Amino acid sequence: MSERKPIVAGNWKMHNDRNETRTLIRQIIQNGKNLGQNCEVIIAPPFTSIACAAKEIENSAIKLGGQNIFWEDKGAFTGEISGPMLKEIGCTHVIIGHSERRQYFGETDETVNKKIGSAIKHGLIPIFCMGETLIERETGQTFEVLKSQLVKGLKSLKVQNPVDFVMAYEPVWAIGTGKTASPEQAQEAHAFLRRELALLWGDKFAAETRILYGGSVKPGNAKDLIGQTDIDGGLIGGASLNAEDFLGIIEQGTGF
Ligand code: 13P
Repeated sequence: MSERKPIVAGNWKMHNDRNETRTLIRQIIQNGKNLGQNCEVIIAPPFTSIACAAKEIENSAIKLGGQNIFWEDKGAFTGEISGPMLKEIGCTHVIIGHSERRQYFGETDETVNKKIGSAIKHGLIPIFCMGETLIERETGQTFEVLKSQLVKGLKSLKVQNPVDFVMAYEPVWAIGTGKTASPEQAQEAHAFLRRELALLWGDKFAAETRILYGGSVKPGNAKDLIGQTDIDGGLIGGASLNAEDFLGIIEQGTGF
């Protein structure tokens, strides 16, 4: 049994206005038994709903994450949100390098690296996402791609405490497609990422780092996926928008 406390994180993406945010959080809190006791629960609403979410989760075990961060603290950067701003609104975590940001918003390993650096500097826990596309998997480049994303994303950085760092393996072909990586495929990628992290930051750090799986996780497949040795929880998209499904994943995936 691993000592790594599981994490189930909901990436709401561009969903949920404030009313929907209030309703969903209330449903999660009302129906979640012992929420957060044996599993960390994080939600990452869109920026306009974060303040409302922060109020709703008061006195609950739910933690808040941003879906993006800019690496400068302040300045003329129209449309961006900084680490201090995320902290001030109540975020403890921030998702960085999600494939949708890489695909649609020009995020590169270099910008991911700066963003992770900024999150660390401001005491935000990065949820650092990596994953291969379908074509990369089919042409046998999965591990090369993962290694490159990992090494470049963490270049010149160091986190002191492994509880303050989270990684996520999200195969791009499994995101929002209903196609899930098989538990074996996911386990293989997670074990690989953990070994590569050990080469960078040492065996002990890697052994204690939570690595989440993301890509069409549902209550029905959560147990098989999160039950794998190197899978420490889930980063949930679509299913995190429904309280029953989100709680089902927590229950099935972590047994709590
Ligand atoms: P889905 O769960 O909708 O496939 O999305 C996964 C994801 O991208 C989480 O960050």
